[in-house]
Amino acid sequence: MGMQKITVSNQKGGVGKSTIAVHLAMSIREQGNSVLFVDLDPQANATKTLERIGEASPVAASQLFNGEVVGIEAAEGITLIHADGAMADIERADPAVLSTFRRNLESLGESFDYCIIDTPPTLGLRMTAALLVADHVLAPIELEEYSIDGITKMLQTIFGVKEKWNPDLNFLGMLPNRFNPRSLAQKETLTNLVKNYSHLLIKAKIGIRSSIPEALAEGIPVWELKKTAAREAGREFKEAFAIVYEKMGGLK
Ligand SMILES: Nc1ncnc2c1ncn2[C@@H]1O[C@H](COP(=O)(O)OP(=O)(O)O)[C@@H](O)[C@H]1O
Ligand SMILES: [Mg+2]
Repeated sequence: MGMQKITVSNQKGGVGKSTIAVHLAMSIREQGNSVLFVDLDPQANATKTLERIGEASPVAASQLFNGEVVGIEAAEGITLIHADGAMADIERADPAVLSTFRRNLESLGESFDYCIIDTPPTLGLRMTAALLVADHVLAPIELEEYSIDGITKMLQTIFGVKEKWNPDLNFLGMLPNRFNPRSLAQKETLTNLVKNYSHLLIKAKIGIRSSIPEALAEGIPVWELKKTAAREAGREFKEAFAIVYEKMGGLK
């Protein structure tokens, strides 16, 4: 089986896409797989974290849409294709760039076991590209009331691409993030989601914990942070990812 591509997607910003994408990449790497990380968000949060620990990243994400990217070999750590400003132009490009993107990922697939794609908080060409090439898609969500409206839209986008262009796309599910157990509103939202979208929901959640951004600032996953407060967060990630891997049919 070739490189498995996992897209982390939600058109809403701040829900934890980059946080979860980076932790997922680190977890898969820790289990002995070679991992390519593609950062399609010019805000570059994942790029900033991964540059701290990885080798230099010679290829910018916009190049995946614009030319032929060859000769990237798996590195010791996670191999990063970094976010760059030129990606904004992709949104105005001819949709033909989508096939260039697909072709590039296909050829990179010879060197890696897994590819994690982090997406921008916009419904556009890059989001479409990321869903088009993906084998699996994971959707971090927030349980704040204002973000629930966005969930329907997000599901329409993902299942729209699946229906039209990528019938084999495996929706791993929505993963509640930044969960605050003291918030009655969040608990209520979760109850509603379970009632209406149970089959699309990952039965785990990541709490809101300051140890998570702290760990990423150091370039390590939260389960590596030597702090009591990080232990629970690490456990939650492991639990959530165990479900994700099971839904992927297991890791290689
Ligand atoms: N579970 C969490 N607990 C605490 N802070 C979090 C958590 N998840 C994400 N964050 C923080 O929230 C902000 C937005 O997260 P990020 O992953 O960048 O979201 P997105 O990529 O969806 O825009 C970041 O500052 C990040 O460190
Ligand atoms: Mg992000």
